[in-house]
Amino acid sequence: MSGACNDTIENAARISRETTWYQVYAANNKSITEDMIRRCTNAGLGALVVTVDVPIRPKRERNTRNRYSHDLRKLTAERVIDALCHPRWTYEYLINRGAPSLENWAPYAPQESNSHEILDFFNTQTPAKSQTWQELETYRRLWDGPLIVKGILHPEDAIQATNIGVDGIIVSNHGGRQLDRAPSSIDAFPAISAAVGDKTTLMLDSGIRRGADIIIGLCLGAAFVFVGRAAVYGVVAGGEEGAAQTINILSQQLDANLGQMGVTAINQLGPHCLTELK
Ligand SMILES: Cc1cc2nc3c(=O)[nH]c(=O)nc-3n(C[C@H](O)[C@H](O)[C@H](O)COP(=O)(O)O)c2cc1C
Repeated sequence: MSGACNDTIENAARISRETTWYQVYAANNKSITEDMIRRCTNAGLGALVVTVDVPIRPKRERNTRNRYSHDLRKLTAERVIDALCHPRWTYEYLINRGAPSLENWAPYAPQESNSHEILDFFNTQTPAKSQTWQELETYRRLWDGPLIVKGILHPEDAIQATNIGVDGIIVSNHGGRQLDRAPSSIDAFPAISAAVGDKTTLMLDSGIRRGADIIIGLCLGAAFVFVGRAAVYGVVAGGEEGAAQTINILSQQLDANLGQMGVTAINQLGPHCLTELK
């Protein structure tokens, strides 16, 4: 569950407690972050993920070009045309669901805030100005369950995080949406694995598009591989069914590739299955 999603920790726990991982975004007001961690504990969630690669908001030029904005209050001609071209979405937005609201943040925003005001509040709180190893130590003290750091690309950072006692590291460049010219996570992974692979659980995220990408991640030693956009595309195209379809496509590709490699079980994958192209 993203720290910027539109439902609550408590509702997620009602649907699936132990399998829900909550991704916390540090807030300027530290008591908010600490309260969210407490809520995750009370709800009995399975893992806490701390995203560390958003120290400042990036300038996403693609968004400027597309005139993308979170603020749906501004009615431009383009938006009106877009809305008319997508009647089902417009109906859901206007009648059924309304604007997505960062519900986890609602208790901290001024009382009776609507979804836009909660978003404004969120923007005053994140990205937090202080995001240091000390904060990670605090989260470690506050959270007894599995603590995972997301957004590490350098072996020395991986060593620091491991020394603080995190249970897992998601090697990620945030899908290339944060640091400009960041290395790809798959290129960064081997050095991190050499540094801390025997001390913590390593996971790979960013750029996973096909089953073969999943296989490469697993061969390198990732315990989990994550998809961001692929899942989003599925949801955008077909809602819940679209999400299921994304999983089906990736699973089929994974199975086909394993078969083509002559691998009969996923735990047979390892570095010996890879060949380095010079
Ligand atoms: C629309 C969108 C929203 C995202 N929101 C968050 C977020 O709230 N928290 C977070 O840690 N990462 C967020 N990410 C990054 C993803 O968790 C993930 O790291 C990234 O998408 C992986 O790369 P991929 O899209 O190439 O699979 C977001 C990514 C996208 C595309």
